[in-house]
Amino acid sequence: MSKRVRTAVFPAGGLGTRFLPATKVIPKEMLALVDKPIIQYGVEEAVASGIEHVIFVTGRGKGAMEDHFDVSFELDATLERKGKRELLEISRKVSSLARVSYVRQKEPMGLGHAVLCAKQLVGDEPFAVILPDDVIDAPRPCIAQMMDVYNERQASVLATMTIEGPSISAYGVLAGAQDATNERLYDCTGMVEKPKFEEAPSKQAIIGRYILTPGIFETLERTGFGAGGELQLTDGILALLATEKVYGYTFEGRRFDAGDKFGMLQATVEFALKREEFGERFRAYLRNLPI
Ligand code: UTP
Repeated sequence: MSKRVRTAVFPAGGLGTRFLPATKVIPKEMLALVDKPIIQYGVEEAVASGIEHVIFVTGRGKGAMEDHFDVSFELDATLERKGKRELLEISRKVSSLARVSYVRQKEPMGLGHAVLCAKQLVGDEPFAVILPDDVIDAPRPCIAQMMDVYNERQASVLATMTIEGPSISAYGVLAGAQDATNERLYDCTGMVEKPKFEEAPSKQAIIGRYILTPGIFETLERTGFGAGGELQLTDGILALLATEKVYGYTFEGRRFDAGDKFGMLQATVEFALKREEFGERFRAYLRNLPI
């Protein structure tokens, strides 16, 4: 297994209920963070990491995502006619980011099921999984950091972040020992979904970035539908541990849960503050709020 990671799977078949009513008609992945749909941040991260092929696992009502990454002939022609070069660049860039494929998940039957839907398109090679609602701000793209680990260890890698205190209970938590040579690396021995604080096996919360070997497809196929009638990715990875090494990697950077209203607010403020065009104005505006 020395193949390069060339493909990224974006599971986007979920219903986005935490963001209702905005997501009744608009896919969660298309909600704008400042001025870009959240899924575009993930695709740009993948492309900046060297990913060549992007696979979207979509479902009913996700058509806007397909249109977003396609050429918009009318829009581009109008911008060209009006001489709006910069806006034309922005529009064209989206459709030329990467080779894109789509596969439908007929019903949201869990993250593991969504990943399994991409099996034929991925083929027999390692691949990345990017959960679009986890938006990451990092000095080096998170997936690129994880590829370094994959290339060195030739095994699946789960991105984690360190959580101090009881809020660890909101996450899937990694069990395993820290690597002797790299303090960001953990030799994964298990995972516990939303443990009580006292029972959490570590401070390493698993976030929405994975590099997986194709062995995951076989273990997912063998794994039954668990809690709530869903096929969980976690169960597939736990089964993979029986035959392969899996590593946890504390990525460098910050993760925002943009699929959650509060997380989206945090991301909006922080990403807006970084923008050259209006960051300073926005900072002054926030400073003057009577809070
Ligand atoms: P989430 O649980 O965060 O997304 O799944 P959700 O189900 O859309 O949102 P809520 O909880 O109802 O608000 C993480 C990612 O996995 C995808 C989702 O689209 C999201 O990007 N997913 C989840 C699927 O593709 N298929 C599923 O069956 C479940």
